[in-house]
Amino acid sequence: MDRLHINGGVNLEGEIRIAGAKNSALPVLAASLLTHDSVKVCNMPHLFDITTMLELLGCMGVQRVVDEKMNVQVDSSMIENLNAPYELVRTMRASILVLGPLLARYGRAEVALPGGCAIGSRPVNQHIAALKSMGAVIEVENGYIRARSDGKLKGSHIFMDIVTVTGTENVMIAATLAEGQTIIENAAREPEVVDLATCLNMMGADIKGHGTDTIVVDGVDELHGCSFSVMPDRIETGTYLIAAAATRGHIKVKDTRPHALESVLSKLEQAGAALRVGEDWIELDMRGRRPRAVSLRTAPYPAFPTDMQAQFTALNAVAAGTGSITETVFENRFMHVHEMNRMGASIRVEGNTVIVEGVERLNGAPVMATDLRASASLVIAGLVSENETTVNRIYHIDRGYECIEEKLQSLGARISRIPVR
Ligand code: UD1
Repeated sequence: MDRLHINGGVNLEGEIRIAGAKNSALPVLAASLLTHDSVKVCNMPHLFDITTMLELLGCMGVQRVVDEKMNVQVDSSMIENLNAPYELVRTMRASILVLGPLLARYGRAEVALPGGCAIGSRPVNQHIAALKSMGAVIEVENGYIRARSDGKLKGSHIFMDIVTVTGTENVMIAATLAEGQTIIENAAREPEVVDLATCLNMMGADIKGHGTDTIVVDGVDELHGCSFSVMPDRIETGTYLIAAAATRGHIKVKDTRPHALESVLSKLEQAGAALRVGEDWIELDMRGRRPRAVSLRTAPYPAFPTDMQAQFTALNAVAAGTGSITETVFENRFMHVHEMNRMGASIRVEGNTVIVEGVERLNGAPVMATDLRASASLVIAGLVSENETTVNRIYHIDRGYECIEEKLQSLGARISRIPVR
């Protein structure tokens, strides 16, 4: 398993380009199962999770052609198998996104039940209940979700008990080919849900209300192919901006969508960053100053994203003052805290809140990545540490950050990947 070696203490300076959003590309790829035509997905990030989704589609019989610019042409006209095996679902929970399209188009699907993961138990009961209310018969046995529907799924009025991103996406995808109208109340409003709805509408679906908490889908007989470019990754964008703020640097991120990051940009301003924003770029300048601690609370969009919580913890760890960070989306998302404390941070956990007392500097140490965003936060901690930090188990990072060490190197960071066989 590869490791990252980081020698901290460099203020990040320069420009980088943001990749396409993983959390948009994954549901869009799954949605391609809805049509016999081929779907071209552009601006795909070069990530492990994308490879896993393509592998999953491949084992169902989907033909995939990837060009040198990471545009992917997917052709689902010859599906042979309606099964998502445990080996793939285990490595990527978002595999559950094939349940909706398979059920809607083929009336049958078998998807391994995703287990819990490092950040919480993460059940999929909302996905299952909503699809059942659309007429699907679903049994969970031997670790598999076995779903079938006699004829088409039926439009239904669904009230999601909690706001779930992939749950909303799965149901929205399934509803495109259902008979009649589906209304999803308490829907997720995340930009990636909107991106998926835009793609589905380009394929001939009739979806309205995406971006609000009530999504209305009028089922159509069939969908057709399209060419769709996924939105920029707002979490990757935020991660580099936070890294620049923590290192007192000055960077410009290009090919991004500032509008999708308002809650994060507002916290960066509170931390003392000077921001300039264009249509598709953001420039952050700390003018060499130490960041100020900020307090925040995660919640579904448009509130502060849980996927940025760990990175802000790293920023607070070296900021002036004390900040509190409350996690309301996942029950166990503070694994990075103990690793940061081993680097000299002063952070204590009180229930679902961490209290971070900023220290002048951290000290490099060998640390262990436990999940995707926690890994990114440890890289940031390494960038603001004295001496060397080694981040182990970085396969987590490769799931969600494209060429992280190359991008950071281009901003002046002293970081290298050590392949371990
Ligand atoms: C998605 C994102 C992930 C992000 C998360 C929250 C993708 C591929 N992943 O994950 O990066 O951190 O949204 O913004 O888009 N829940 C249930 N029952 C369900 C479904 C969810 O109890 O059926 C709970 C979860 O355990 C969690 C909360 O709802 O506590 C929100 O989870 P959800 O929005 O579903 O996360 P994902 O879609 O898995």
